[in-house]
Amino acid sequence: MPHFLIQGGCALGGEISVSGSKNSALPALASSLLFKDKPEFHQLPDIEDIKRMNELISSIDLEGKMDMEIAKRFRASILPVGPILARHGVVSFPHPGGCVIGARPIDVFLSGWEAMGAKIKTPAKTEGGNLIYEAEAKGGLKGADYAFKTQSVTGTEGMMMTAVLAKGGTTLRNCAMEPEITYLADFLNRNGARVTGAGTTTIHIEGREGKLLPGREPFVAPPDRIEAGTFLILGALAADELLIKNIFPEEVASLTALLKEAGVEITQEKNFALVKKIKKTKAVHVKTKEYPGFATDLQAPFAVFATQAEGQSLIHETIFEGRLAYTADLNRMGANISLMDPHRAIVSGPTPLYGRKLESPDLRAGLAFMIAALIAEGESQIGNIYQIDRGHERIDERLRAIGADIKRI
Ligand code: EPU
Repeated sequence: MPHFLIQGGCALGGEISVSGSKNSALPALASSLLFKDKPEFHQLPDIEDIKRMNELISSIDLEGKMDMEIAKRFRASILPVGPILARHGVVSFPHPGGCVIGARPIDVFLSGWEAMGAKIKTPAKTEGGNLIYEAEAKGGLKGADYAFKTQSVTGTEGMMMTAVLAKGGTTLRNCAMEPEITYLADFLNRNGARVTGAGTTTIHIEGREGKLLPGREPFVAPPDRIEAGTFLILGALAADELLIKNIFPEEVASLTALLKEAGVEITQEKNFALVKKIKKTKAVHVKTKEYPGFATDLQAPFAVFATQAEGQSLIHETIFEGRLAYTADLNRMGANISLMDPHRAIVSGPTPLYGRKLESPDLRAGLAFMIAALIAEGESQIGNIYQIDRGHERIDERLRAIGADIKRI
């Protein structure tokens, strides 16, 4: 099986550029189903999840059926479902797969479509071991006033896209406020949609009653804010000086505030940041939150940082209930992390880390393991790298260019 072999202890330095944002590109690609002519997409990251989304969209037939095997492989396969339902009046789809970081239900999608007049067949049927849902809105979807019980990023994106083709206006309440939602709304609006309020908790969409959008304006993927934040952490741990290009510093402001509190020096301008390794950093507490709070996707890389800081850092994961399991592997590398409950861990540092054989559990923890391996003594082997390639473009090559000793075997 493919894996990475990493020799720890190399001094890193130089320049690294952040790739296009996966989580922004995925909903934008799904929204192409709302268009008459497919719009152009630029600066998409060359990663597995984007390939899967393109394959999934090409697999959709005239009756709104999608390839179930592709769909069940990744969580974002839920994104085209609303647009298909709005366009074809019918859709069947499997429970989406993806990173094992918690239960990851889809109830907010189902109740949202129901609020817009869709009928969801219950119970979902089982086909070849897969749970298959079927939804129907033969007379077309109607605008609704819908409140999310919990803020959901893809839930907000999914309902926003669905409402673009509905009859009448839709108001979505308790929406997520992540930048990816604003990028999507801007893209749709530049192509004739009428979405207001994206980036706040209340979004309004004027529906087009089935009238598709013209594909005039292209989508240009913004920098991936999670990759940007991960590179900041990597620089703070291992670089003589690292210049991070194609970064929007305001999108990682809660991370930089914490790193600065820990003692890291960061210089930043409009679209670059400079960071270097600091000998002594101090422990800080982190609590993951919806944007603009500290991103759950940066929690695992931050825990690696905390292993090198002096004192006890409390890591409180509030978004997902299964996102601290990777800490057992960091402990095998020499970290001192105590799991208090499924949501809270205490990292006591600093502790030296040692190379080990690891398996990437999900794409963000996988990259965190790569960082841990880069600062560890000796050699590490990281398996299940499909999980890393899903979200990070040619990561081994790009890290080699800043001095890392990584082989893809
Ligand atoms: N939730 C429900 N019901 C639902 C949907 C979500 O209860 O129907 C709950 C979840 O269980 C979770 C919370 O709502 O506790 C928030 O989850 P959210 O729906 O916002 O997550 P998501 O949209 O599935 C996106 C990103 C994730 C990122 C989260 C949180 C994409 C494609 N994925 O997932 O990114 O961790 O938001 O910011 O945008 C990654 O890129 O590695 C990744 C996992």
